Amino acid sequence: MSKQNVTRRQFLNYTLTGVGGFMAAGMIMPMVRFAIDPVLKAEASGDFVATKMKVSELTGEPVRVDYSFDQKDGWYETSQTNTAWVYKTDDGKIVALSPICKHLGCTVAWNTDKENPNQFFCPCHYGRYTKDGVNVKGTPPIAPLDLYATKEKDGILYLGQLIPQ
Ligand code: FES
Repeated sequence: MSKQNVTRRQFLNYTLTGVGGFMAAGMIMPMVRFAIDPVLKAEASGDFVATKMKVSELTGEPVRVDYSFDQKDGWYETSQTNTAWVYKTDDGKIVALSPICKHLGCTVAWNTDKENPNQFFCPCHYGRYTKDGVNVKGTPPIAPLDLYATKEKDGILYLGQLIPQ
C-alpha cells in the first residue's frame, strides 16, 4: 500500500482552484441565465388568452372582441388590451382578424363606411378590406389583415398568435 503525501503547495493550489471555480460559477451562472431566459420563455409567448366571448354567441357578423392579458417586458409587467374582429363562417369556422391596418397601422372597424357596406374600413386614408380581411384593390392597404390563431375551450373563445394571411 502506497501512501501519497500532498505537499503544502499542492494543497493550496487545490484549495484556491476550488474556491476560485466556485466563485466564478456564482458570477457566471446568473449572466448565462439572463442571456438564455428569453429563449426558455419563447414557448410561453405562444400561449392562448381567454376572451369573454362565448363561441355559441358568434354569428356571421363580425363583432369586436377586446381581451386583456399581463405582458412581461424585461423587468416590467403590464396589463395589455388587444382587439380582434371575430365571426363564424357558414361552415362554422371561427375567423379572428387583427384590427391593425396594413397601410400605416390605424385601427379598422367593421361596416362603418356607408358607401361601402359590409367591409372593414380604415378612416385614416380610406383603406378597405373584405369580410375575410383581404385588402380591396385600389385602396391604400397593400396586404390582408393578420389573422389570430383561435381555439375553443369550455365554450369560450381563446385567441393566440397573429398570423399573416
Ligand atoms: S392607415 Fe389605414 S388606410 Fe392608411
